[in-house]
Amino acid sequence: MRKPLIAGNWKLNKTLAEAEALAKALVKELADVTDTEIIIAPVFTALGRVAEIIADSPVSLAAQNCYPQETGAFTGEVSPLMLKDIGCQAVIIGHSERRQLLGETNQFINLKVKKALETGLQVILCVGETLDQRESGEMLEVLTAQVKGGLADLSPEQMTNLVIAYEPVWAIGTGKTASNEQAQEAHSFIRGLVQGLFDPDTSTACRILYGGSVKPDNVDGLMAQDDIDGALVGGASLNAEDFSRIVRFNKNRH
Ligand code: 13P
Repeated sequence: MRKPLIAGNWKLNKTLAEAEALAKALVKELADVTDTEIIIAPVFTALGRVAEIIADSPVSLAAQNCYPQETGAFTGEVSPLMLKDIGCQAVIIGHSERRQLLGETNQFINLKVKKALETGLQVILCVGETLDQRESGEMLEVLTAQVKGGLADLSPEQMTNLVIAYEPVWAIGTGKTASNEQAQEAHSFIRGLVQGLFDPDTSTACRILYGGSVKPDNVDGLMAQDDIDGALVGGASLNAEDFSRIVRFNKNRH
């Protein structure tokens, strides 16, 4: 019932020429995919060119961040309106790298979520605990604050254009994927939070992606979990063959 979604977060990688080459390879490899939604998120400078390349393909475009204002004196920022204008359908908000390196708070993330949804962009809201938080027993508290904070003031209707990505920080770029059970446990907890904030229909319909060292050889097991509806892929999304294999995860295990 929830259509799987595989998203590639290219992070701070790929020159324009490299981004073009990867986008072209993905269009070729993924042209026939209809049963899984596919999103790629290149750097800002490559968005326009990649938008042209993927225009007639099943691949959609996301940015990796946005600012919660349409226009104005906000040097160095890019607004949801401008992202839409250049061809984005979606935007990643609240990635742990931005929370940690740039000090983004749940409150600021919530402003971005609201502005992006108002503009008509699909939002991929990232949440996830650090290793310290997990080991000191704070994981559920942290996830609760991130989910409640990020989704504050939204209506059930707005939730239909929002996807949550659970990305345990200790699994990002480390090669240490959460086990299928650890991921399922966190996803089920997050779905419960969404139900508490909204209603059962909203939580049943809400897609929750897993992110953190997703690779061709672990995606099938993760996708077989009841509450895992897709993946937010970092490193493996920079390689067309690996990302395509992840998009074509083995559905027989469902
Ligand atoms: P990796 O797949 O490289 O661990 O990155 C995950 C991630 O942060 C995606 O947003």
